[in-house]
Amino acid sequence: MIGFSRTDEILTCDGVPLSAIAAAEGTPVYVYSAAMLRHRYRELDAAFGDYPHAIHYAFKANSTRALVAELRTLGSCVDAVSMWEVEVARKVGFEPRQIVFDGVGKSDAELESAVALDLKAINVESHRELQRVEAIAARMGTVARVAIRVNPDIDAKSHPHISTGLKVNKFGIPIGDVQTLLPTFKARRATHLVALHMHVGSQITNMDPIRGAALKLAELAHEAQHAGIALEYLDAGGGLGISYDGGAVPSFRDYATAFVDAIRPTRLPIVVEPGRSIIGPAGALVARVLDLKPRTATSEFAVIDAGMSELMRPALYNAFHLIEPIAARIGGLKQYEIVGPVCESGDVVGRDRMLTPLDVGDFVAICDAGAYGAVMASNYNRRPIPAEVLVDNGGWRVVRRRQTLNDLLALEA
Ligand SMILES: Cc1ncc(COP(=O)(O)O)c(C=O)c1O
Repeated sequence: MIGFSRTDEILTCDGVPLSAIAAAEGTPVYVYSAAMLRHRYRELDAAFGDYPHAIHYAFKANSTRALVAELRTLGSCVDAVSMWEVEVARKVGFEPRQIVFDGVGKSDAELESAVALDLKAINVESHRELQRVEAIAARMGTVARVAIRVNPDIDAKSHPHISTGLKVNKFGIPIGDVQTLLPTFKARRATHLVALHMHVGSQITNMDPIRGAALKLAELAHEAQHAGIALEYLDAGGGLGISYDGGAVPSFRDYATAFVDAIRPTRLPIVVEPGRSIIGPAGALVARVLDLKPRTATSEFAVIDAGMSELMRPALYNAFHLIEPIAARIGGLKQYEIVGPVCESGDVVGRDRMLTPLDVGDFVAICDAGAYGAVMASNYNRRPIPAEVLVDNGGWRVVRRRQTLNDLLALEA
C-alpha cells in the first residue's frame, strides 16, 4: 500500500506509523509520501499516452525543494507564479526552458528577470502587460517568448475563490480581445507568441468546464494558425480536483482525454499545469489534541495544535479535509468540532466530525493536505511554520525543519 493507510490499526504513511514521526519530530508536522507523489505523476503522464505533452507542475500547490526535486527526476517541468518560484525552480536544477511563468500581477523586475532568462513562456494576462514585456525585451535587444492567457468566460463550478475563468474574474484577456490581438503578432518585433494558455479554476470535479475550455482553446489556436502564427504548444492549465471526502472525481484519464480530444486537430503539443491532483493526496498534516471541552449536549470541542496558521483551506474556503485519529481508541463514535489554537472563531479545521473517542495527547491526521497546505502557512499568532517530513523507501527524513522564533525575529530590528 502506498500513501496513507492503516497497519495494525495505526495510520501509516507508506507503512511508517505517523505516530512515530509525530513523536520524533513534534507536531504540527506535514508528512508526505514519496511513493504516492511518484505514482500520481506517472499516472497523469501515462494518461496522455503517446500524444506529445509536457507536465508543468504548479509550484504554487507546494514547492518544498525535496518534493519538486523528486518531480524533476520524474521528468516534470514547472509552472511558476512569481519570480521567487522561478528562482526556487532554478536552484533545484530546472532549466529556463522548462519553466512557464504565470501570474496576474508581475512587477517590472520580475518581467526583466523572466525576459533575461528566456523562459519557455511568459503567460501575459493583459494588453498592458504585453506592452510592458515588449518594451523590456526591446530595451534588452531581445525577443521575449510569450503566451496569452485567455479568459474564456467559463464557469469552473468550483469554489468562487478558486474559479478563474469567468469574465468577472481578474485573470487573463477576454477571448474576443485575444482574437483582435492575434494578427498584431506578425508585426511585433520584441515578442514571439509561442502559445495560448487557459486555466479556468482549481478543484474542478465536473469535466464539462474543462472540455469547454479545451475546445475554446483549440478554436482559438486554429484562428492563430490561420493568421499565420506558428504556435509551439497549447497550455491548458491545471485544475483537476481530488476527492477530499471519498466521493467520485474524474480520473487522470478523463482529464487527459478531454484535452487530447479537443486539441488533437490543431496538431499542437499540450502543456498542463497540475498542482493539487499530483501533490494533494500525497500529504497529511499531523497534529496533537491539546484539549477537550463540552460544546453542545451531543458534541465536544477537540482543540488541536494545528489550525488556520498551518492549514488555511478550511478557514479560507470552508474546505473539507478528512480528519482521522492515528491510533483509534475503542468506543462508539462521538461528535467533535475540531478547532485550531488560533485566536479566531473561524479557526475550525473540521465541523461536526464523528470520530472514535479522542483524548488529550492523541495524534490526528488531517488528510489530503499536500496541496495548498504548507505553502499557505503563516506566522499568525507568532506561530512557527511547521516541519515537513518525506517518507521514502521505508524511512523518513525532515525536508524542512520547523521554524524557530529566532528565525522569525532575525528579520526584525
Ligand atoms: C495559472 C495556474 N496554473 C495552474 C494552477 C494549478 O491548479 P491546480 O492545483 O488546481 O491543478 C493554478 C492554480 O490555481 C493556476 O492559477
